[in-house]
Amino acid sequence: MTTVRDLMSTPALVCGTDTLLADAAHRMREAESGSIIVVEERKAIGILTERDLLRAAAARLDPVSERVGLWMTPNPDTLGPEEEAGAAWASLSHHHYRHLPVVDAGELVGVVSIRDLFAIASLRPADEVAHEVPRGLEGVIVSETTVGDVRGLEGFYHYRQYSAVELAEKRSLEDVWFLMFAGALPTSSQSADFREETASQRVLPPGLDSLLPSLARQGSPLDVLRTSVSLLGAELGWQATTDIAAETLRRQATQLCAVVPTILAATHRIRSGFEPVAPRQHLASAANYLWMLTGEEPSAERARAIEQYLILTIDHGFNSSTFTARVITSTGADLAAAVCGAIGALSGPLHGGAPSRALDMLDQIGTPDRADMWIRDAIGRGERIMGFGHRVYKTDDPRSLFLRGVARDIDAPLVGFACDVERIVVEVLAELKPGHKLYANVEFFAGVVMNACGIPRQMFTPTFATSRVIGWAAQAMEQAGDNRLIRPTARYVGPPPPQPVPAPG
Ligand SMILES: CC(C)(COP(=O)(O)OP(=O)(O)OC[C@H]1O[C@@H](n2cnc3c(N)ncnc32)[C@H](O)[C@@H]1OP(=O)(O)O)[C@@H](O)C(=O)NCCC(=O)NCCS
Repeated sequence: MTTVRDLMSTPALVCGTDTLLADAAHRMREAESGSIIVVEERKAIGILTERDLLRAAAARLDPVSERVGLWMTPNPDTLGPEEEAGAAWASLSHHHYRHLPVVDAGELVGVVSIRDLFAIASLRPADEVAHEVPRGLEGVIVSETTVGDVRGLEGFYHYRQYSAVELAEKRSLEDVWFLMFAGALPTSSQSADFREETASQRVLPPGLDSLLPSLARQGSPLDVLRTSVSLLGAELGWQATTDIAAETLRRQATQLCAVVPTILAATHRIRSGFEPVAPRQHLASAANYLWMLTGEEPSAERARAIEQYLILTIDHGFNSSTFTARVITSTGADLAAAVCGAIGALSGPLHGGAPSRALDMLDQIGTPDRADMWIRDAIGRGERIMGFGHRVYKTDDPRSLFLRGVARDIDAPLVGFACDVERIVVEVLAELKPGHKLYANVEFFAGVVMNACGIPRQMFTPTFATSRVIGWAAQAMEQAGDNRLIRPTARYVGPPPPQPVPAPG
């Protein structure tokens, strides 16, 4: 068993309450120590840390006239030398301390720092050194990103440095796609070139094209997409992200994002008993998707409504599918592997599965006067109201607000009814689930908009995938560009090992 005595630094660096801050800082620097223990007759009466020095510096105090006694933390918690290392870890991490004096029979004998614990971390069982993290990793920062972020309390999210909602108001899908990949909005000539580049890559490669008719009826459209992306990577010979240049990965990512709408539209048509419709190069991405899905060129109004929905859903922080894409990329696996994993995560009902169910709910409610009772009954049965609530947003979801406006602009058939139901759901949830701040999420009005634009319900979540793949690809490129294998740890809570292995039979 490792004890505090095994870890502590001894003798501890000490000073008195009258020591000048400048002298204490000098001694800490010389000893490369992050703290100094303040003693009186060998008793630890305080601790001064780098943080205290920073506080003093921030207060613009003169360190050659200030005394330690005023800036130290008095009566610090202490550890005993025979205490187990795990207890030291618990004490430091629980109280957010970085240093603790070690005291034996009332006398200072050493100091333990977080650094000492890290030094032995590789030798200790994980449960003694691992940070406590909430289930589901809620609120845990697992990476740094320049792709974008979500500020849940403010009801704001952004791509790179721009508000995603403002991008949806002002720019095309291709421009925002360029922004996600390149980190800056395109100039007008870059915009035209990128639109041409993406439009020229929509056609399925021959191997996938010939296999799709037999695949398309298997499972759900998302299952077909997952298998197709795997085939695409294999057919095009995509290699480990660790073995290819950034520009090669960018080209693969562009082709993948251009081809995904074609795969899904063809899948839908085959499943509905129709021939796939070939992409049209003169159409912008969103309009082309509607064309391939329905066989009719959409009105400019509908094409723009879907384009705006797609822009709004490209990226949204470290949601499950994005995180999955980054974990897989961190192993060096190729882009197709990362996106297959992300599609798998998106297929789960807790992530991508709600928009059609929100519309099903509107069908079941039928008329506004039935809404209040229907919702109370559903909550009474312990059910969730689809299209409401969000893990991060505790105020209006900005995507929902924007899509409500889009639904009104295009005079979507269900918009008036949906607005009535939204108001009633928010009121009833505030009464029955007080304090949880439940509002409509992106899924609620997404369904209303997609329905108005002729997208069938079973294609709602797959349509979401046609834009989110741009976010996954941007995140995968960022991960590959500055990679470190993502390999966390778990706490073992099963029967204590090692148990003797019984002989067979
Ligand atoms: C999105 C969602 C999974 C986020 O949930 P979460 O952050 O994990 O929230 P919690 O599960 O901790 O819920 C907190 C409380 O609010 C309630 N709540 C959350 N969303 C609710 C909803 N849509 N309808 C009714 N109650 C809801 C929960 O029942 C819980 O109440 P309780 O403490 O009395 O049990 C959740 O809001 C939900 O299931 N919504 C419906 C499905 C949906 O629209 N998904 C698409 C998301 S974009």
